[in-house]
Amino acid sequence: MGSPEKKVPVDLSRCISLDDFQRQAKPILGKALYEYVASGTDDEQTLSENRQAFKRMFLLPRMMRVVSDIDLRLDVFGQRLSMPVFVSPAGVHKLMHPEGECATARACAEAGTLMGVSQHATVSLEDVAAAAPRCARWFQLYILKDRELTAGILRRSEKAGYTAICLTVDSVRFGSREADWRNNFNGLPPGVTLANYPTQDGYNDRVKDAWDQNTEKLFDERATWSDIAWLKSLTSLPILVKGILTAQDAVSAVEAGASGVIVSNHGGRALDGSLSSIESLAPVVKAVRSVPTGANVPIFLDSGVRRGTDVLKALALGATAVLLGRPMFFSLAVGGQEGVQRMLSIIRDELEAAMALCGCQRLQDITKDLVTDFREGGSTFHRPRL
Ligand SMILES: Cc1cc2nc3c(=O)[nH]c(=O)nc-3n(C[C@H](O)[C@H](O)[C@H](O)COP(=O)(O)O)c2cc1C
Repeated sequence: MGSPEKKVPVDLSRCISLDDFQRQAKPILGKALYEYVASGTDDEQTLSENRQAFKRMFLLPRMMRVVSDIDLRLDVFGQRLSMPVFVSPAGVHKLMHPEGECATARACAEAGTLMGVSQHATVSLEDVAAAAPRCARWFQLYILKDRELTAGILRRSEKAGYTAICLTVDSVRFGSREADWRNNFNGLPPGVTLANYPTQDGYNDRVKDAWDQNTEKLFDERATWSDIAWLKSLTSLPILVKGILTAQDAVSAVEAGASGVIVSNHGGRALDGSLSSIESLAPVVKAVRSVPTGANVPIFLDSGVRRGTDVLKALALGATAVLLGRPMFFSLAVGGQEGVQRMLSIIRDELEAAMALCGCQRLQDITKDLVTDFREGGSTFHRPRL
């Protein structure tokens, strides 16, 4: 347990959709490791809603528009990216593949897109940067009780060329993933460490159900919005707040000085029963745009994105770009760098096709009127009474 069980050669051409990578990864990873990635907390209501909510939303495509020259490129914080689909910051890539985060970074560099690198990476933030210098990178930070250590990690990431900080705020505690309890998934395998910490003391204990539930006691439960100012005093990098689901928190983040917001419920791994990310998006966008300093603040989304049409729906509701968590893990398990590259190219092609079929040539053409919005009465579709 704790590292891929079998080296099963996978024919990557058999992975046609993002869900195919998940199916192919299952026998490679074995039950405990597969479920560590795939599962959500408690009843997995939010995990399931993240997908169902996209499926309850329908597209209203427009015809007879020029779509002969579709352009997916965008600029974020001064960086040119090939498409509005990035990789979410998520820990422990080495559990999927021996090259870990280095393989993911190389894949993102090849695809011209951005990688979020987790504080809980299994390759140090400096080594990820060195492995793929061309890869656009944001560093994901947790505020630890040990503020000196937090500040030190932040400073290292700026020095190593990361272009923004994603402060994850939805995990003062990790939710309970019952699959990990049942599978006795209680630690990283020998040789795999959380490489961004100077020592492993306390960061890789094996006393609770999963290694990451052990790290939660290191997080500062007294952190508040005023700590954005503290972080800003330590770095000139833009700070994005990851894990926002409400309009009120989005406004607090922007008023506290955040340069961006990531609407996310941690892929259903934080509070179970919380709203899906796609259904949280529109109120967040509306609220941020109503703040004087929020007019140009980019808003991102992750949790449940699996199709090009999902990306289009999120962009139509005001997202600048989306991020992918589990599809990165499963494609890394299936094919290392090549697997992640193929996964990114599949969703890119899907988005391109969806834009063509919706009559959109540029990302700016993806507007709100392309999706049904039940809450504003914008559709004639009625949900059946159950
Ligand atoms: C195995 C795993 C590890 C994760 N580790 C982190 C992490 O270290 N920091 C973080 O902010 N989010 C982490 N996440 C959450 C992802 O960044 C992202 O929000 C989520 O996976 C998106 O949902 P999706 O998997 O449905 O695409 C993790 C997710 C998974 C599945």
